[in-house]
Amino acid sequence: MKDEGRNIFSVFDEILQREVKEKLLNQRGLTIWLTGLSGSGKTTIAMALEQLLNKKGFLTQVLDGDNVRTGINSNLGFSEEDRTENIRRIAEINKLFINCGIVTINCFVSPTKDIRAKAKEIIGADDFLEVFINTPIEICEQRDVKGLYAKARKGEIKNFTGIDAPFEVPKTNFIDLKTANCTPLEAATQLKDIVLTKIIKR
Ligand code: ADX
Repeated sequence: MKDEGRNIFSVFDEILQREVKEKLLNQRGLTIWLTGLSGSGKTTIAMALEQLLNKKGFLTQVLDGDNVRTGINSNLGFSEEDRTENIRRIAEINKLFINCGIVTINCFVSPTKDIRAKAKEIIGADDFLEVFINTPIEICEQRDVKGLYAKARKGEIKNFTGIDAPFEVPKTNFIDLKTANCTPLEAATQLKDIVLTKIIKR
């Protein structure tokens, strides 16, 4: 062996495994992936879900456009290519959280089947719970919390999801959370019951 070879150590024997961290936290790591239009209520539901899980003693992390697109993804826009890169990086971040045994609640439009499939592939199907925040576009546009639909209608924002960029509704292997007739807390409570079956350590 050359001298340099002796100085390389495999760190993988020493990095604590996911199981050890999950045991410490007494929970299973999971990615909860909320997809839906802008203004559909993803972040509000995620925040309520986080509170509910926290009360039950689970460690969580919410990731959404505000904390990701202003930070690690601040160089990305809304072309198809940039959205794909946005979601790829977020999926890699999720993997890190999962390896720490943390339950990560994601709020990203993630508008296409391919983008969501990519996230699922990176994270792993067993750890990926896809949830469609099913709010009709009419309601999202009526709310228009950020005033973005009005701008998109006037052509001041291009490539706006649901207006001049596509949103592909999930078709298989997802939870359909219809929000039109319930409060965000009711939606989050429904979701919590499903999530608990996946994160409680047996
Ligand atoms: S994604 O398509 O790449 O998944 P992401 O969830 O990160 O999107 O960001 C969406 C948020 O960015 C929206 O809720 C909205 O506030 C804002 N936004 C700004 N421009 C656009 C656009 N062209 N299309 C969709 N959302 C936009």
